Amino acid sequence: MVPLAPLGALFFVVLATGEDCVWNKDADFPMDPPLILDDQLKLVLPVEKDSVREVRIPSGNIVILACPGTGNYLEALGEVVVQTKCAGGVQLNVTDNESKALLELGCAKKIRSAIKKYLGSCGAGDIGQQHIIGFQFADKFYEQVLVCFDHDKQTTLYTRHLIHGANIGAKDKDSSRPSFKTSSGFFNVSMSNVYTQNSQLELLKTLLGSETLANTMFDTSKYYFAKGHLSPDADFVTTVEQDATYYYINAVPQWQAFNNGNWKYLEYATRDLAEKKKRDLRVYSGGWGVLKLDDINGNPVKVFLKVTDEEQVVPAPAITWKVVHDEYSNCAVAVVGVNNPHLTSAPATLCENICPSLPWIDFDVNDMTAGYTYCCSVSDLRAAVPHIPQIGNACLLKLEDPGC
Ligand SMILES: *[C@@H]1O[C@H](CO)[C@@H](O)[C@H](O)[C@H]1NC(C)=O
Ligand SMILES: *[C@@H]1O[C@H](CO)[C@@H](O)[C@H](O)[C@H]1NC(C)=O
Ligand SMILES: *[C@@H]1O[C@H](CO)[C@@H](O)[C@H](O)[C@H]1NC(C)=O
Repeated sequence: MVPLAPLGALFFVVLATGEDCVWNKDADFPMDPPLILDDQLKLVLPVEKDSVREVRIPSGNIVILACPGTGNYLEALGEVVVQTKCAGGVQLNVTDNESKALLELGCAKKIRSAIKKYLGSCGAGDIGQQHIIGFQFADKFYEQVLVCFDHDKQTTLYTRHLIHGANIGAKDKDSSRPSFKTSSGFFNVSMSNVYTQNSQLELLKTLLGSETLANTMFDTSKYYFAKGHLSPDADFVTTVEQDATYYYINAVPQWQAFNNGNWKYLEYATRDLAEKKKRDLRVYSGGWGVLKLDDINGNPVKVFLKVTDEEQVVPAPAITWKVVHDEYSNCAVAVVGVNNPHLTSAPATLCENICPSLPWIDFDVNDMTAGYTYCCSVSDLRAAVPHIPQIGNACLLKLEDPGC
């Protein structure tokens, strides 16, 4: 086995004459593929080429294969992680004199994500704590989604991830979805229970002080609180990354009409933009404020999914927002969706709406029943939502790069 060198020391020479490694993602991969990383610990991902999903690595390059998750390992080698070299075609050199096809280098079982916890504070006033969803192997961790979590209110202030625009068109399309995972240390209420429709209807009856009013606001198809993904599964290329988004800390309660409406269309538009630009877009997604509904006496009441005499936790946010940052051109935009499909008139905005100058926001932002949506400069929204990370002076993110 080629020993796994310390990260900073990894170094390679591209052999000028050797043949690239090229795999067809749909034919040359084992059933439970390992994570495939380069010497910088970046995932090696497929690109769509003549309707083939092709994974390509230059000859001689270092290729790290890893099977994260308890009790998992590369079946043929008995190791959690190995450093190999591209030997051309579908072959990897696992030692100086042993080469194997990637097809023979599957994991014993499907690889699993993990959470690296308490990595520093985040958010305005440092009220949040950073945690990272990703993949652990040996002493290394592949970071997929950063989560800034407010442990007091038991809600996520924002998440951060990358959309790989060059690869997203070649993503895995596995329609089966895992159930949401809790992971310890985040919630002291049952998240599976607060997201059940029964408990939500009971909650609304109590909050609004009227069973009739609760019944007019609630139904089982559009008007319940869904687990609204912050970093969405479909923004990721491989099945295992998609599955790794299913943590309660990566979701906030969104009315389903909004979750499956303009929030979803915003996700589509963001991926389309990344795909057209063919490069990485950094995406921050968060919630802000607490949704208020008028009770039977016309008084606004805040909606937390868990309310007891002692505590109010798991707020349904008033809005959910995304900041999309193209770090290559340093252009960015903030988009806000209002988490209230029951509105009958357009709400006041937190910042000046500039959606009309952004044709890539290609859905009906004014549709209140799908979640009224508006666009702002990042600095404008950040003035109102101080948890948004500082990204500096950025130009406005359009389909065309500045100067074109
Ligand atoms: C892979 O191993 C073979 C021998 O098994 C050797 O001839 C070849 O040069 C190696 N390729 C690389 C890139 O190390
Ligand atoms: C592979 O190479 C090692 C030394 O690099 C040697 O000890 C071993 O016998 C070789 N194995 C085979 C199968 O050639
Ligand atoms: C749950 O957590 C909240 C906020 O951290 C705290 O106020 C409350 O006392 C906790 N409740 C229980 C039952 O531990």
